[in-house]
Amino acid sequence: MLSQADNELLTRSGKGTPMGELLRRFWMPALLSAELSERDGPPRKIKLLGEDLIAFRTSDGRVGIVEPHCPHRGAGLYYGRNEECGLRCAFHGWKFDVDGNCVDLPTSPPESNYKDTIKLLAYPTREWGDMIWVYMGPKDRMPELPQLEIGLVPTASRYVTKKWQDCNWVQSVEGALDTAHFSFLHAVLAKDEATARAALAKAAIADQSKPDDRIRWIHNDPRPRFTIHGHDAGLLIGAARKTDSADLYWRISQFLMPNHAYTPTAFPGEIYYGQCWVPVDDLTCWIYTYCWQPDRPFSNAERVKFDGGFNVHAEVDANYVPLRNLSNDYLIDRKVQKTDTFTGIEGVSEQDAAIQDSMGPIQDRRREHLGLTDVGVVEFRKLLMGAARALGNGEEPKAAQTASRYAVRAGGWVAAPDKNLDAVMTERFGHRRGYVGGQYGLGD
Ligand code: FES
Ligand SMILES: [Fe+2]
Repeated sequence: MLSQADNELLTRSGKGTPMGELLRRFWMPALLSAELSERDGPPRKIKLLGEDLIAFRTSDGRVGIVEPHCPHRGAGLYYGRNEECGLRCAFHGWKFDVDGNCVDLPTSPPESNYKDTIKLLAYPTREWGDMIWVYMGPKDRMPELPQLEIGLVPTASRYVTKKWQDCNWVQSVEGALDTAHFSFLHAVLAKDEATARAALAKAAIADQSKPDDRIRWIHNDPRPRFTIHGHDAGLLIGAARKTDSADLYWRISQFLMPNHAYTPTAFPGEIYYGQCWVPVDDLTCWIYTYCWQPDRPFSNAERVKFDGGFNVHAEVDANYVPLRNLSNDYLIDRKVQKTDTFTGIEGVSEQDAAIQDSMGPIQDRRREHLGLTDVGVVEFRKLLMGAARALGNGEEPKAAQTASRYAVRAGGWVAAPDKNLDAVMTERFGHRRGYVGGQYGLGD
């Protein structure tokens, strides 16, 4: 349970709010590279952290993300001409480069230095991991890009997309960190083999075309025991369930400051999944969903399958809005819900979205009653709210300065019951916090 004041602190991301300022100390995905692929192509309207912005790709391939109104008399730069390495206002032709410098001011005499005094608000951008990233904080605090493994593997070994969500970003992150819900929300009820297989292939765990031990263990033990450790970039969240023997089945996720989370499923050789939540405003967000395979390229068949949704990736339209969404009740099928799956909604992503959106645009956390399996959510809030408060007191977030420590993995493992999370991580990943940066020359 949170007080109203704490709920506001946690969920509001506008400029000048404590959480908004914390988020602005980190790089954020602003667009997929594919959304702005054309040099001198049309500018795009975007909205991030409550700020309306314009994105454009120049003749030399650089990306600008700038305020939407021309500093001359406020015309919308969206209607401008994107030409010769800058965006030219359609009203009187003032032109700006990606850094917000006014590079041409044709309404002033050529000898005037008036244009040197004109500046358009422009945020630094980077392109990395098939995404365009933006930094919206103070320039003198700009960190390195977080070294997430999705950006370290070759292009052929990753797949990145995004999806719209109709709720505040925080409750959606909390949904990802609460891995206990897998025993219910994503459960398959069908008893006959063929229906169960079909439901699993569509709705339950990515890459599973048939029931396996892990699914049975998840369903048989709805009370995983959590162990959580902090590290330089965020939180390691381990949940141990019973198996058929004395061994424990561990599902281990990562939360990476301030808005990334990795799923806990992958065994060695399987696909790793991550998500990054970027507030559009306080009531909606984009979720960048990505997966990677460090050992090999993805096949075309796999890419087609990712496009079809049914896992972390949703099935989306051309504007990245999920086909099954709030406006159509996620196409819930009550007959399927009675007999085949716990929700009657197709797709893991869509099942998550339905439940997260259903809490209301911003969950009223004054009314919640947390239990033992919510410990990941509690630790996440403590970390985030603590960092926002500390920043308000002048203490910069450490995670922003430790870019290399984002090179971690999350996943699953079966281990002897006497092994603690450190030992399980070492067995599974060769490092007690799942760090793999050494493989990419980022140091030990
Ligand atoms: S309003 Fe943009 S050039 Fe005049
Ligand atoms: Fe889920």
